[in-house]
Amino acid sequence: MSARRDVRSVVVGCGGYLPARIVANADLAASMETSDEWITERTGIRQRHIAADGEKTSDLARVAAERALKAAGLAAADVDLLVLATTTPDETFPATAVRVQSALGMGPCPAFDVQAVCSGFVYALAIADNFIRLGQARTALVIGAETFSRILDWKDRGTAVLFGDGAGAVVLRAASPGGAALPRGILTTHLHADGRFHDALYVDGGPSSTPGRVGVVKMNGREVFRHAVDKLSAVVEEALTANGLKGTDIDWLVPHQANRRIIDGMARKLGLGPDRVVITVDRHANTSAASIPLALWEAHADGRLKPGQIVLLEAIGGGLTWGAAVIRW
Ligand code: ACO
Repeated sequence: MSARRDVRSVVVGCGGYLPARIVANADLAASMETSDEWITERTGIRQRHIAADGEKTSDLARVAAERALKAAGLAAADVDLLVLATTTPDETFPATAVRVQSALGMGPCPAFDVQAVCSGFVYALAIADNFIRLGQARTALVIGAETFSRILDWKDRGTAVLFGDGAGAVVLRAASPGGAALPRGILTTHLHADGRFHDALYVDGGPSSTPGRVGVVKMNGREVFRHAVDKLSAVVEEALTANGLKGTDIDWLVPHQANRRIIDGMARKLGLGPDRVVITVDRHANTSAASIPLALWEAHADGRLKPGQIVLLEAIGGGLTWGAAVIRW
């Protein structure tokens, strides 16, 4: 989607939060038929963080948001839009976003959830960017937060070993490039969905289909893997073309962290070495909508992401949904 106005959304702060409890592959091998070797070889995952009993998605999101606001040097009262991507809301309604809004002590402003599973953060970022470009917001808090452990079937080794809990957040601010040749901010966003692939990855419950039962993740791993490679390649190509870039122009690939093999495949396609890819999947596993903002938080905090660099985000998840964003950091 191209800009309608001469306004850009600049990332001015990043934050994240991971629950204290770490579960290593070997811990899982004690309760199900799996091994550290199998999980590491097939996925690159070595451990994941799991929320404590009673620790909710909004609790994780609040801390990530506070850290992002602090990094931006802003107060909660400065925010005039809150978009929260999650698949694991505190409640069926209201949105987890309004729980976070009140926990942060924010005044009234639009606050809502976005449900695009593992692509949720890219969707939320695109929505907030469009609000900013249209002049409907100036300072947006965009959060990806999940307690995915709550919708896993802990007896299904095919899915239980893949996911973790966490939250990440970014603060976007409207900025006018003012004729700068290479303005900073979100350059383009690209969103897709195709509901025909519902059965590849879904949760078998929910308020309308199975009242009173939340359900657990069901996945055809091989099919998801095949779609991931195809659809991510296509959306990345679309994002590069929209910006007149080639793969090697990307300074940092910050992908959704589902599987090391998918990430390595995308990096190879772009012609990027491992030194230009942000990886957290080994320590966080797949935190769904939280994975990209957690990776941004880490790479920004340790100085890898520098102002002016080109950062490419890409994600695919249940729906199927997929998307990409190009940011001049
Ligand atoms: N430990 C040990 N063995 C296992 C485990 C496990 N945790 N899980 C499955 N196996 C077994 C299977 O039962 C099967 O055994 P069999 O040959 O005796 O039947 C064998 O391992 C191979 O299973 P496959 O499913 O064919 O293994 P595959 O190589 O496809 O790897 C995986 C599975 C890792 C899930 C892979 O398909 C994948 O990464 N897919 C992408 C899915 C994904 O990332 N989903 C996340 C959500 S979507 C997203 O975020 C993009």
